[in-house]
Amino acid sequence: MRAYRANILFTPTPQRFEIIEHGFVVVGNDGNVIGTYASLPSEYKTIDVVDFGNQLLMPAMNDLHVHAPQYRNLGIAMDMELLPWLNTYTFPEEAKYKDIKYAERMYRRFVHDLWKLGTMRAAIFATIHPEASCLLADLLREAGMGGMVGLVGMDRNSPNNLSNSVQEAVDGTLRLVEHTASLPLVSAIVTPRFVPSCTPEMLTALGKLANGYRLPVQSHLSENQSEIEWVKELEPKSTCYGDAYRRYGLFGQTPTLMAHCCYTADEELELMRQNHVFAVHCPTSNCNLGSGIAPIRRFMNAGVPVALGSDVSAGSGFSIFRVIHYTLQMSKMKWVAGGHKEAFLSLSEAFWLATKSGGSFFGKVGSFESGYAFDALVVDDSDLNFDNYPIQHRLERYIYLGDDRQLTHRFCQGKEISAPRI
Ligand code: GUN
Ligand code: FE
Repeated sequence: MRAYRANILFTPTPQRFEIIEHGFVVVGNDGNVIGTYASLPSEYKTIDVVDFGNQLLMPAMNDLHVHAPQYRNLGIAMDMELLPWLNTYTFPEEAKYKDIKYAERMYRRFVHDLWKLGTMRAAIFATIHPEASCLLADLLREAGMGGMVGLVGMDRNSPNNLSNSVQEAVDGTLRLVEHTASLPLVSAIVTPRFVPSCTPEMLTALGKLANGYRLPVQSHLSENQSEIEWVKELEPKSTCYGDAYRRYGLFGQTPTLMAHCCYTADEELELMRQNHVFAVHCPTSNCNLGSGIAPIRRFMNAGVPVALGSDVSAGSGFSIFRVIHYTLQMSKMKWVAGGHKEAFLSLSEAFWLATKSGGSFFGKVGSFESGYAFDALVVDDSDLNFDNYPIQHRLERYIYLGDDRQLTHRFCQGKEISAPRI
């Protein structure tokens, strides 16, 4: 057992921050939070206290949608919309992960950069390649970080060098399930790339796999208008894009993440609500590919779960703090475009999306309430806090102005995580 002392902030509810100035978080030997306190209760007087002085202590970031094999394309190739972008830049890069040496070189950097920007858990798309996907899981484990890794299924409208058969996708996913069975914080997730990349046979098999083994699912949904039109042609029996996944058992029958949801209309939203399907908001990606602005307030009002994702490399960076910043800005643009009807998001709501809401996909993660995993960041914002701002403003300044230079310590499940070897 151990206590950490600092300026603590977290969001038990979206509406407001819980702030304890110079407070204590007591963490058990299992890495879970026992409690937060303004002064240390007498029963803990003998335990070790690590004092972080005037620094901020907050839950770590969760990235619920990121493509590890797009690492090399970060910050380039944003001159096209989704479908030509995939064919021109993304598929050729992902095909390189057949080469395990190349995969290791890039995946080490990927894990390092997640760590660097304060993301301790992530839901990750790998590629069709089983060996490289298992290696990615190993690298997360080696780092001490958590997450889910998906071997991607794609068997139509995909280049020959980046296609797998239904059997290969199923076998590869099962290999990843076995491979991660003994890894405490890392697991496998069923990953059909998106409807245009998957035949009905692929979707059927992956739906059976998810339901048979009770595995979670991740994919893309209603990101771009050309994509949505294409799905209507490919799946004419489905009443909407989300219904196409539902018909194959891939829409909330097991815990499900759907990235983007920029053009989700009422019927799809209702399906998501009923089936508890997460809308993973990726605002930096949606700006870069000119995709659209997701109706996050509408999802939240309706009770659809929402999380945040970097969507690297359509998203141009790993920082979920940057994604929070864009979430707030995009929400204001949506508010303007919608005639000022639905309120824009508050700082605490956007922070809650990145921490407790996204973290809930991994279990009790993303808060400092009792029983939650101690996934945490320590921020030395003394360069930004030159005039004694109140704690919430210090966080706000860090979100808008800070980067990895202010992050002094990172914890995942109670363990301090040092820089992963590149
Ligand atoms: N839809 C299918 N694949 C992808 C991808 O790699 N990135 C994004 N942003 N959307 C997709
Ligand atoms: Fe994506």
